[in-house]
Amino acid sequence: MILSVENLSHEYKQGDNKLQILKGLNLKLEDGETLSIMGKSGSGKSTLLNLLAGLMKPTSGEVNILGSSFSKLSDKKRTKLRGRNLGVIFQQFHLLPHLTALENISFAGEINDIDDVLAKAKKLLERVGLSHRADHFPHELSGGEMQRVAVARALITSPKIILADEPSGSLDEKNANEVIDLIFELVEEKKTSLVFVTHDEDLSKRCNRSLILDGGSLRES
Ligand SMILES: Nc1ncnc2c1ncn2[C@@H]1O[C@H](COP(=O)(O)OP(=O)(O)O)[C@@H](O)[C@H]1O
Ligand SMILES: [Mg+2]
Repeated sequence: MILSVENLSHEYKQGDNKLQILKGLNLKLEDGETLSIMGKSGSGKSTLLNLLAGLMKPTSGEVNILGSSFSKLSDKKRTKLRGRNLGVIFQQFHLLPHLTALENISFAGEINDIDDVLAKAKKLLERVGLSHRADHFPHELSGGEMQRVAVARALITSPKIILADEPSGSLDEKNANEVIDLIFELVEEKKTSLVFVTHDEDLSKRCNRSLILDGGSLRES
């Protein structure tokens, strides 16, 4: 088992109100498994993915990556565990605006102490079909191109798990299909596990297993 979640709950505070989004959720992901998480808009998919990525702390419960529990690690160790083992792809790309396509990829490797980052970044940029855009800044790229850079960035540390949050949600149909095909090809090629958040049932079927997030917990689809 590569990732497990135990009794995970999360609430947001809105003034005096508490919004209970996740309610004692459990999840297991095996090495090499691809899992889709479906759910209506507002059901808490992005909240769950951010918790899996260790980007937020849950109100209660545990997220374990490769046997280490986020909550039991120092900030430094948590950052290292996340950086080395998880590649995250967001709907809105989240590229750094002042870095070029190539630099966005290599920087993610540098901050995680990966060797030969420039050579690896160039190879990944080529793999996602964007060698000719290496020196372009994000605002000089199309949406599909930005997301392909973000896919390459997610892979620079050779992570064990890719977490993707509606990665084609901001793209037109043609680019959406290309990016999704690319993600599934690379997951297969690199033998990583995948947690794939989507509201598209057809896309969810490309994963080994599908779960639905509803009412704050997960159920089989
Ligand atoms: N930072 C926040 N503060 C308060 N409420 C939030 C915050 N982030 C998300 N929410 C609310 O939590 C619910 C779940 O959001 P989200 O996880 O983004 O759902 P999904 O990704 O499934 O659309 C939504 O109702 C949203 O409005
Ligand atoms: Mg979302």
